[in-house]
Amino acid sequence: MASDMNRSALDADQVGRVVVLYGGWSGEREVSLAGGVAVLKGLQKAGVDALGLDAGQDWMEQLRALAPARVFIMLHGSGGEDGVVQGALESMGLPYTGSSVLASALAMDKMRCKQFWSGIGLPTAPFILLNKHSDWPQVLKSLGGSAMVKPASEGSSLGMTKVDSASELKAAWQIASQYDSCVLAEQWLSGAEYTVAIVNGKALRTIKLETERTFYDYQAKYIADDTRYLCPCGLSAEREAAIQALALEAYQSLGCRGWGRVDLMEGADGEFYVLEVNTVPGMTDHSLVPMAAAAEGLSFSQLAVEILSACNSSSDLTQQPETAAVEQKS
Ligand SMILES: Nc1ncnc2c1ncn2[C@@H]1O[C@H](COP(=O)(O)OP(=O)(O)O)[C@@H](O)[C@H]1O
Ligand SMILES: [Mg+2]
Repeated sequence: MASDMNRSALDADQVGRVVVLYGGWSGEREVSLAGGVAVLKGLQKAGVDALGLDAGQDWMEQLRALAPARVFIMLHGSGGEDGVVQGALESMGLPYTGSSVLASALAMDKMRCKQFWSGIGLPTAPFILLNKHSDWPQVLKSLGGSAMVKPASEGSSLGMTKVDSASELKAAWQIASQYDSCVLAEQWLSGAEYTVAIVNGKALRTIKLETERTFYDYQAKYIADDTRYLCPCGLSAEREAAIQALALEAYQSLGCRGWGRVDLMEGADGEFYVLEVNTVPGMTDHSLVPMAAAAEGLSFSQLAVEILSACNSSSDLTQQPETAAVEQKS
């Protein structure tokens, strides 16, 4: 893996000026700043002529003035990860890292991803959309008695609650609807949790996440020091190949390119289910993508260069999703 990646890595001297776009105005500003600065240092360490830009409202003018050859997007959440910045960079004619407009926007919308994956036969937990007229006991019953309530377009586990009763379901909907008017109740998945990083069309080694908390919530993600990250993940080689293949299929089916990270869980039946695709995953030095890259022998700095190298590569763009190919044949 590491040697494959080294072959496609850029010549730092040839790449020209790179601007790392970070900060921004979403709820994930702090995480973005930390990841952006880490990427900036990583690129500079590799000899890339890299500058950082904390994206305020006038970021487009500032970026134009810096005249970069490429842009490394390290903005998370709305306005940065959802296709808006990607569209602006398209119209400025600047190559950028990661997924393009459509895939970025789609991946940000958990409801449409799940509808799409169900349509093409990829496993994702059954769900029901909630609104003030929902029949709470009936919703919970049809999801099997326990559910995860989540806003469709948030990250960092914000606004999410596990529910085991109809009254909890209504209260959880009220919490989630403060983040997004579109709220999902998803069947509770009781098995282990995994994440698969994808860089330049390849799935890296799977990481297993373990927490003593009810789920991998904001506390477990950013604050608790007892969250465990296992890589190797403990799955048999065959099961790990299966989860990597599913992650890659979910990622490619949305049209993602460059890099990303797919979150998955095991259900009570032992099968894997896709939770979501992150198109700009965290990149602090203790984030999950750098952890998976390290397991492949790739340093943080090499990983940053590898992600950068994909930003004007057409390899991921021309790749047809397997599932789409199957549909076309039938
Ligand atoms: N259906 C589910 N059953 C059990 N746990 C879930 C379910 N959906 C999400 N979770 C838990 O919530 C966390 C965050 O969910 P996820 O869909 O990945 O949203 P986010 O964008 O906030 O990361 C997951 O990492 C997992 O621990
Ligand atoms: Mg997640």
